[in-house]
Amino acid sequence: MNIVQRMSEQNHPFVRATSPKLGGLSPRVRTNYCGCHSALERTVKRHLRTPLQKPLSPHTVEAFKHALPALENANGELLLDSGCGTGESTLSLAIRNPESLVVGVDKSQVRINRALDRSPLPKNVLFLRAELADFWRLLRESRLSLKHHFVLYPNPWPKAKHLKRRWHGHPIFPELLLLGATLELRTNWKIYADEFEIAAKVAGLSKEKIDNQEYKTETPLTLFEKKYLESGHQLYRLRLHLQEFSTQTANSLADRA
Ligand SMILES: C[S@@+](CC[C@H](N)C(=O)[O-])C[C@H]1O[C@@H](n2cnc3c(N)ncnc32)[C@H](O)[C@@H]1O
Repeated sequence: MNIVQRMSEQNHPFVRATSPKLGGLSPRVRTNYCGCHSALERTVKRHLRTPLQKPLSPHTVEAFKHALPALENANGELLLDSGCGTGESTLSLAIRNPESLVVGVDKSQVRINRALDRSPLPKNVLFLRAELADFWRLLRESRLSLKHHFVLYPNPWPKAKHLKRRWHGHPIFPELLLLGATLELRTNWKIYADEFEIAAKVAGLSKEKIDNQEYKTETPLTLFEKKYLESGHQLYRLRLHLQEFSTQTANSLADRA
């Protein structure tokens, strides 16, 4: 049985509703500072020293519990689409990777509903409404390994005071690196990709494991990618090869920080 259908039937955090529209041209990201954030290194070091203690959100724990058998069944053939929005990328990835389970996670009930409304959904797709930081912690604790991790067009939070809302300035960042696999970040804001790269280096990832480049495509994978291309924006793709990035690396860095 299709996992999505089975879970939505159970009336759990996988829900339905109407969808947001994404029309018009998109303005470029504007920020109120130059280059990378001056507090970035300090912030990452602090997060390496102090693991995130915040209690997990109950709806994410519930979503994870229900998804766990399917995640375990995937035997490492697990692709994660973090912040999947309305699920275009999750579906494309599932079609391109029929041997893998592709999990799309988003905090927005409306967007997950929109994803669930697409039918027929491939059998190897799972959509979950969850808080990403909590979901990543639960994944780490369960020691499930990912094959590929997509973080496609995260909200930029471009003001200087919002550094901690960007994933590399968030206390979850060390855990995110420890999920392994290749982490692929795409953004239309160069500073986001560059800061993420610097944060990964501060956490101990060597430069050979980092690939940060302008990205061109004629076949957008996501709704935001499509919109940015139509608006004439330059796209950026950062890939971090995290397969051998171990807890030991993170811990030893935390000691030095
Ligand atoms: C700019 S949209 C990009 C959506 C999609 N990846 C795309 O490229 O079309 C960012 C998405 O991340 C989701 N998001 C932001 N913060 C989140 C969080 N803490 N947990 C889960 N999802 C989150 C938002 O709900 C939104 O759908």
